[in-house]
This record gives sequence, structure tokens and C-alpha cells, in this order.
Amino acid sequence: MTHHNSKRFFIGGNWKMNGTREAATLLANELVTAFEPLAMSVDAAIFPPFPYLQHIGGILRGSGLMLGAQQVSADANGAFTGQVSAEMLLDIGVEIVIIGHSECRQLLAESDELIGEKVAIAVSTGLSVMLCVGETWQERQAGHTEAVCRRQISAALKGIHLDHMGAIHIAYEPIWAIGTGRSASPQDAALSHASLRKDIEDLYDPSLAAATRILYGGSVNPANATSLFAQPEIQGALVGGASLKAADFASILRSASQATSSRPN
Ligand code: PGA
Repeated sequence: MTHHNSKRFFIGGNWKMNGTREAATLLANELVTAFEPLAMSVDAAIFPPFPYLQHIGGILRGSGLMLGAQQVSADANGAFTGQVSAEMLLDIGVEIVIIGHSECRQLLAESDELIGEKVAIAVSTGLSVMLCVGETWQERQAGHTEAVCRRQISAALKGIHLDHMGAIHIAYEPIWAIGTGRSASPQDAALSHASLRKDIEDLYDPSLAAATRILYGGSVNPANATSLFAQPEIQGALVGGASLKAADFASILRSASQATSSRPN
């Protein structure tokens, strides 16, 4: 079993449903340039919209920046109009896929069970996974943050063998922090990360839990990245809005690189 080095940060840029082919091309080219001096110290992926994946994949080739997709079907193939399979993603060079994003849980009514099926088919096909979990503001106010995250991660990892866990990154994304400009405080994020790590420990074992990278997501920007990354529990970020501006995403990548080098081995 190979575990990735959890000391290395992972930064994901989730472009969501934004941009044109022209804007995406420009952004990807700028990111390739910005990533060049950082490729040795940070892992990073960008998640363009489906229609641009193959084209952007061509731009990223050889850069070390990974190509990611924002969604995947729970089914292998068949009469599922509008869906895209894990096999198809792999076929066009996608390496990692976002599963369980709160926008899909809420807008598309994706259940915990469906998310578990998606994780299973993705890892068995050979894709890495960015698994998103997180509570609503109401759940946080009611003191249910840890229980909600535990329910979500347990369902998503149900039936996932230990050997596949090296391909799974967790993104803790409190829903109230996504796209609001109001990120979780570094301390609150760290508490949730520690609780999620304990859940992984209970589901698997302590060494796997220690090796699993847990990213924070929700209004990460160049101004708050450094303080978030100063928390030892945080091993990266899933970035939405700020990933659409090359200068902002590059600044977050540099913060991650600096945070990595200041961590003990
Ligand atoms: P945001 O989005 O950075 O715009 O808050 C994060 C996400 O949805 O992954």
C-alpha cells in the first residue's frame, strides 16, 4: 500500500460552471506558468467544466497540474442521459474527480448513499477522489457539525477498501462558508479536520488517518490562506471563486508551498 506524503499540500481549483473556452484557455495557461516553480513542493489540480476538460488537459500536459472533473455518474454505462462515467473521464485524461460537493448534494439532491456509490466506482476505475463533506449553518448552530460530517464520511467511504484510501482526499467545506466570503476560522476548521481524522481512524486505522490529506474549502483567498495553512490539521484547500483569477490561485499555491516547507517531517 502506498500512502502519499501528507505533509505536501494539495490545492484544488473548482471552476464550477464559469468561463468560456477562451477564458478557460487563458486561465489554464497562466496557471501552468505560475505552477512551474511550485511543482516540486505542492500538489494541485484544476476542475474545469466538462466541455473544456480535454482541451484544458492538453494545456496542462507535462506541467504537473492535475486535471480534475467536477462530477461523475454512479453507474458504469447505459441509459443515463446527461451523465458522464468514471471510465469516460479516465479515457480523456482526468485524474481526480470531486464527489459530494454541497452544491450537488443540495441542488441535485445527491444522497449520502449515492455519493458512496460514486466514490466506489471512481476509485475502482482508477480515479482519485476529492470527497466533500460539511455542515449547514443551522447544523453548526445546533452543535451537530461533527455528527453530520461523521455521517457523510461514513456513508461515502462505506465499502471502500483500505488499499483505495490513498486515492481519496477529503475536503471539509462548511456550506455556510462556500461562496459567502466568510471562511471558517482556522481554529474551527482545525477542530472539524481533527474530528474527521478521528472518523477515518475509527473506520480504518491511525496510520491511514494520519496519512489522509484533509483540505479546507469555503471562501479561501490569498488573504486568509496563510492563517488557514498554519493549522497542522489542514493539508490544503479546495478553492472556488479565487481559483478563477490566476493571480489569486497562484498566491494560494505559494502560501501552500511556504507552509509545506515550514512543517516538520
Ligand atoms: P468558494 O468555493 O471558494 O467560492 O467558497 C469553494 C468550493 O465550493 O469548493
